[in-house]
Amino acid sequence: LKRKPIVAGNWKMNGSVELVQSIANAVQNVNNQDVEIVVIPPTALLSNVVASGVVAGVQTVSEYDKGAYTGEAQASLVKSLGAKYTLVGHSERRSIFGESNEDVANKFAQAQANELTPILCVGETESQREQGQTEEVVAAQIIAVIDKLGIASLVKSVIAYEPVWAIGTGKTATPEQAQAVHKFIRDLVSKYDAEVSQTLQILYGGSVNESNSELLFAQTDIDGGLIGGASLKPDSFTCICESAK
Ligand code: G3H
Repeated sequence: LKRKPIVAGNWKMNGSVELVQSIANAVQNVNNQDVEIVVIPPTALLSNVVASGVVAGVQTVSEYDKGAYTGEAQASLVKSLGAKYTLVGHSERRSIFGESNEDVANKFAQAQANELTPILCVGETESQREQGQTEEVVAAQIIAVIDKLGIASLVKSVIAYEPVWAIGTGKTATPEQAQAVHKFIRDLVSKYDAEVSQTLQILYGGSVNESNSELLFAQTDIDGGLIGGASLKPDSFTCICESAK
């Protein structure tokens, strides 16, 4: 069974109107039959990315439908502006903005209710890894969604495994370390539904660049990547997209 790889660039709070055009020009020659290329800019640039013709996502959405929630991004509006994906539970949302597993599950639900595909980000901190808690932490982050929304909710979703210690540090997980956790995730999902686990795209994120992406993406259970810093460099991002094919 072939899962189509996805390479998604999470710009975090970086980028510009000009960068949208540079990235769109750079990736236009990558054959998107073989890899789904996604740009996830700050929400203020969403329409620019959509207009550039690149598949677009946002970095978070509100868990609420609409109303008096100043500053929140409404999933239905994000969808109507042309986004296809939203990240949910990125480690920076969890650690800086205090999102709990339950909040993340609520955002996941809100995304799907509005036909946005959630990319559920999971991963352990360095101290959790040192204490041997990686599997327990990642399982709890995923089970929070399954318990709330059922295993079928994972059908139209993507999981991104991002060890927190590898994000923005230049210290990427080895292909073997990443593969081990990806396999753990697929086996966990398989306990609920074998078919869902086989079709689920699981991305790796954390200091992916054009020198390490090929080996990471070659692993059996790694179906592409969620790229931070390197997604802001048109040439690097294009190389990473090519290496996922
Ligand atoms: O969402 C992307 C990740 O946080 C990875 O960031 O590639 O800069 O380490 P990074």
